[in-house]
Amino acid sequence: MLNIILMGPPGAGKGTQATRIIDAFHIPHISTGDIFRENISKGTELGKKAKAIIEAGGLVPDDLTIGLVKDRLSQDDCKEGYLLDGFPRTLAQAEALKAMGPEIGRPVTLVIDITVPDEVLKERIGGRRVCPKCGASYNIHSMKPVQEGICDRCGAELIQRKDDNPESFMVRLQNYYEQTAPLVAFYEKEGIYHHFDGMVGLEKVTEQVAELLKANR
Ligand code: AP5
Ligand code: MG
Repeated sequence: MLNIILMGPPGAGKGTQATRIIDAFHIPHISTGDIFRENISKGTELGKKAKAIIEAGGLVPDDLTIGLVKDRLSQDDCKEGYLLDGFPRTLAQAEALKAMGPEIGRPVTLVIDITVPDEVLKERIGGRRVCPKCGASYNIHSMKPVQEGICDRCGAELIQRKDDNPESFMVRLQNYYEQTAPLVAFYEKEGIYHHFDGMVGLEKVTEQVAELLKANR
């Protein structure tokens, strides 16, 4: 069963790899960051609570995040597997996920951690452009759209994420090292942790991750 956590620092390529994995393995991609951003753009109560925190690079409180993930993982489309991107990010979230997994009959089976050196993360985040309409992601250094500033898929004008500025990036990176990196030891102890070097190239990372997934599905 592919009940997967995808972890890694901001800009490691979680979203990029997730899109490629779900195309090949047909499991839902659950990105807590995407869910929050969708709520922000729709102006929901959750979005209102999360907006300022996210834009400054902080972490949304555990109680809001955990409840949201439990609801999402309980939905029918997760019964044949799921790919969690950006959750858990704190020890409390990891403990909560460990408790809810058996409760909803969907315990995590694999943890994929992609790491990249800090200076490369900074460059990737600075170069990222996203489509506000269809969600496609580009990079002015490594994944340029055909026409500068325009989405290849839907023709909308590309934008930068509000938290993709140097100040918010530094806060995100610090939170990653302080709050999320300790999860490596947590999942190593569970025997489900797998590390991947995010510097070997986009295709190669996908290939290596796919190999692991094929062996575990
Ligand atoms: P989230 O949206 O998850 O952001 P993040 O963790 O900071 O990660 P990113 O999405 O920035 O990076 P990524 O690893 O997906 O990289 P990508 O593939 O885009 O969370 C946002 C915020 O929401 C958080 O800060 C927090 O406030 C809140 N939040 C979310 N989950 C939460 C939780 N569980 N608890 C509390 N708060 C939560 O790639 C980046 C760029 O690099 C792209 O331009 C891409 O084209 C390029 N790229 C990717 N791979 C390569 C490669 N191999 N070579 C060259 N370029 C590459
Ligand atoms: Mg992402």
